[in-house]
Amino acid sequence: MKRMEVIPSARRLIGSLRDIGYDLPVAVADLVDNSIAAGATTIQLDMCFEGADSWIRLSDDGSGMSEGALVEAFRFGTRRYYDADELGKFGLGLKAASLSQCKRLTVASRSTLRGRTRAARWDLDHIESTDRWEVIRLRARDCVLATMPLRGTTGTVVLWERLDRILRFKSHRGQRALHEFAGLEKEIEEHLAMVFHRYLAREARRRLPLTICINGRPILPWDPFARHESNTRALSEQRLALIDGSAAHRVVVRPYVLPSGARFSTPTAHRAAAGPQHWNRQQGFYFYRNDRMIQGGGWNRLRTSDEHTKLARISVDFSASADQLFELNVSKTQVRVPLGLRAQLATIASSVARIAQDAYRGSSNGSQGTDLVAARLEAVRELVGMVIAGVQAVVAEELGQESVKGIKISKRISDLERTLVKEVINLTEAQSSPNGVVAGRPLGASASLNSPPITSLAATRHAVIGKRRASF
Ligand SMILES: Nc1ncnc2c1ncn2[C@@H]1O[C@H](COP(=O)(O)OP(=O)(O)OP(=O)(O)O)[C@@H](O)[C@H]1O
Ligand SMILES: [Mg+2]
Repeated sequence: MKRMEVIPSARRLIGSLRDIGYDLPVAVADLVDNSIAAGATTIQLDMCFEGADSWIRLSDDGSGMSEGALVEAFRFGTRRYYDADELGKFGLGLKAASLSQCKRLTVASRSTLRGRTRAARWDLDHIESTDRWEVIRLRARDCVLATMPLRGTTGTVVLWERLDRILRFKSHRGQRALHEFAGLEKEIEEHLAMVFHRYLAREARRRLPLTICINGRPILPWDPFARHESNTRALSEQRLALIDGSAAHRVVVRPYVLPSGARFSTPTAHRAAAGPQHWNRQQGFYFYRNDRMIQGGGWNRLRTSDEHTKLARISVDFSASADQLFELNVSKTQVRVPLGLRAQLATIASSVARIAQDAYRGSSNGSQGTDLVAARLEAVRELVGMVIAGVQAVVAEELGQESVKGIKISKRISDLERTLVKEVINLTEAQSSPNGVVAGRPLGASASLNSPPITSLAATRHAVIGKRRASF
């Protein structure tokens, strides 16, 4: 059999990769990932406005790259192995993120204090004219802007020039251009403060401290859950098992209900807690992969965002080993909730939303634990009702509404519903500690672990939904 290697057109492929879903803050975050992975403790982001010659530069004091590693870093689809706790995955971020924003990417790196600083460049104009996957090697003195921050330190510098996707104004020199460029700094700052808040606050599993400065100013972490506010309610943590064949991935869910405006310590604290997308769009799930936030807010089609539930925010932690199930995208901004988690997350979301509604309306009766148990029971009742209604509809469709067999089955399903609800209530109450806080595994977790009634509930639901081809 004859085989041929067909190499992609560099011009066409790199051109297309510019548009795979990065915006400026997201692209910068991808560079920060790399610096964190390289053990950096200080990351400097400099943005310099010089009209058409404006540039953006990210410098870190991490381990830097050897000659071979630097060349490999330039490959689209870097060949390398990743540990389960790493932030990288695709071998694309450095190139795809950078070239989504600029036409000239220069990387300088130094891995030992005694060693040389090495530098190389992807230049889209060169690729456009040659249509070749050709990286340009540079002498340190030919790219001083990129090598300067490495004087006296190890680390890596990423320099973006020819910012065609950022400088979109007609006149690159005008006041308006300057103003817009300055505005980008705030957008980046807010995004990094959110995405890396655990690293900046030393709450990540990685032990090293991290400072990110933007034009010399350190970025402060933004905690989506306003945990420093005394009226924020941390509801019981839920540990779920996501089953994948014979493996089980642990997913940790921590729900919070933030205080309503008047119950914040100060109006400034309330404004700060709103977040980059503001209250309504910041409600929902916050997915973290190895402590790095992937998604900040949104209900992933498990419910709709609503003014009344805007105080509900729920962190969901998963590790890189579950990437496939979460369908992580290249720019690391999105996940899909795996099928095996949907029912459980929907139940939790619905319970937390109920408590958030109460908080929104200003009610603060009862202890947190009792509220959560009551809300969860209500949510489970609703879920049981929905599943049963779905099963009833399928039975009616298959057997006909009037058939004797159909009526008999329908009656048995109704009996089953009553038994199910009873069992669920008993189970929940049994799991409650004396003060009403649910201890140990939550209902949702039980569903995939060892509780027959709910397991069958979730399974039935999926079966019904699969059969009816409805989206959840
Ligand atoms: N700041 C840095 N310091 C040290 N090494 C780096 C740095 N940036 C990139 N690298 C090296 O270059 C490689 C390629 O980086 P790139 O961001 O393109 O892909 P990745 O991080 O492996 O995966 P992903 O596409 O998920 O980001 C990295 O795996 C790392 O080995
Ligand atoms: Mg990367």
